[in-house]
Amino acid sequence: MDEPTFRTIFEPFRIHSVEPLRMSTRAERRSYLREAAFNLFQVRAEHVLVDLLTDSGTGAMSRDQWAAIQHGDESYAGSPSYYLFADAVRELFPFEHVIPVHQGRAAEKILFSVIGGPGKVVPNNTHFDTTRANVEATGAQAVDIPIPEGRDLSSQHPFKGNMDLAALEDLLAARADDVPCVFVTITNNSGGGQPVSLANLRGVREICDRYGKPLFLDACRFAENAWFIREREDGQGDREVADIVRDVAGLADGMTMSAKKDPMGNIGGWLAMNDDELAAACRNTLILTEGFPTYGGLAGRDLEALAQGLKEVVQHDYLRYRIQSTAYLGEALHKRGIPVLSPFGGHAVYIDARALASHLDPLQYPGQSVAVALYETGGIRSCEIGTVMFGRQPDGTEVPASMDLVRLAIPRRTYTQSHIDYVIEVCEEVAAHAEDLPAYRIVDEPKSLRHFTSSFEPI
Ligand code: F0G
Repeated sequence: MDEPTFRTIFEPFRIHSVEPLRMSTRAERRSYLREAAFNLFQVRAEHVLVDLLTDSGTGAMSRDQWAAIQHGDESYAGSPSYYLFADAVRELFPFEHVIPVHQGRAAEKILFSVIGGPGKVVPNNTHFDTTRANVEATGAQAVDIPIPEGRDLSSQHPFKGNMDLAALEDLLAARADDVPCVFVTITNNSGGGQPVSLANLRGVREICDRYGKPLFLDACRFAENAWFIREREDGQGDREVADIVRDVAGLADGMTMSAKKDPMGNIGGWLAMNDDELAAACRNTLILTEGFPTYGGLAGRDLEALAQGLKEVVQHDYLRYRIQSTAYLGEALHKRGIPVLSPFGGHAVYIDARALASHLDPLQYPGQSVAVALYETGGIRSCEIGTVMFGRQPDGTEVPASMDLVRLAIPRRTYTQSHIDYVIEVCEEVAAHAEDLPAYRIVDEPKSLRHFTSSFEPI
């Protein structure tokens, strides 16, 4: 008999240990907002009902990861936990040198402090905020070159995360000597969690080869990216995700990684590469800032948990559920007339706040306004990815970001379908009163990465 098909998305796990959520009233949340100067990063997590601020480090570890924690060896040098971790990384990303760090931005800081500097330029499909900040902190320039469809909210391109190959070629033709390496972010987080195709990566590789440039991956969400390749790219549908990941890795010369995403860690990351000289320089910096090269700012137990997480994240049952449950939220919002970026990304659904709060100018921060309203209305914490995050330029001027989005990022294996049904209801309520959403102004801001600590005020 044929396998019956059912509509219900089925979490491929059952719950083993629970964390209570503390209910709050709207009046309480109003006062929490004032205390936090309307900055959701400043709200205490215990005052949040459904925390969709980020999918980074917020996922639930498995029974087998907790068991692996007990296996951690805390030797300062040469811990067996390091070798287990490095083997698990190389199983998917067979790079010569695997250097653990405490999280992704530490890998970025180390790499760019070695290869960046004034006059240099780093192309990327789209830099994540910390990646851009770490490039710019060295005096180098960070250039985003997504395909035009990646900036078009209505485009249904299956690989909206792709890099614009013609733009890469133009940049290298003009300034090859200034480019220390080419970066591709999979999936493209700031561009909406959109995937990059194997074909596009092969194109980037070919251009890098012609100009003799190394290709690095910012691979935080590599498994979600590989699942999209399997689903959407010609000839990939019958393949194992792990094999697709190895193909992607085989096109690159190195990677930076936040293990707080697809590797299912609450903390961790790594820097990997084939170049011996570059690795030696990076390890020297690592010792200054992170620790000895066999632990790099992590405990042995963290390395064990990541080694196990890397095995779990490439399982097809998990990835099917992960991508379908993200799409479930996206489709529900779309059906209710809420403007969302589509096709839906892997780890998050992005509300087009500029369209939802169309009475607000981008410099009145529509994304901030929608995000604050989601919290006040239903205790949902989301993240503005727009003019607050990207509007301030290195020269001090302020310009609207290319999009004003609100990201609902979904922690891995953490919330059930009924939590998401509640999120859908709250979004509907906020959208019903969108024309009343206030403008915001920034009262106080730091020199860079202002979204984390700025104070805001509704106008
Ligand atoms: N690169 C990408 C594409 C990211 O999404 C992140 C983090 C990093 C690098 C930095 O890694 O946090 O471990 O230092 N993104 C999180 C987010 C914070 O919410 O999207 P990290």
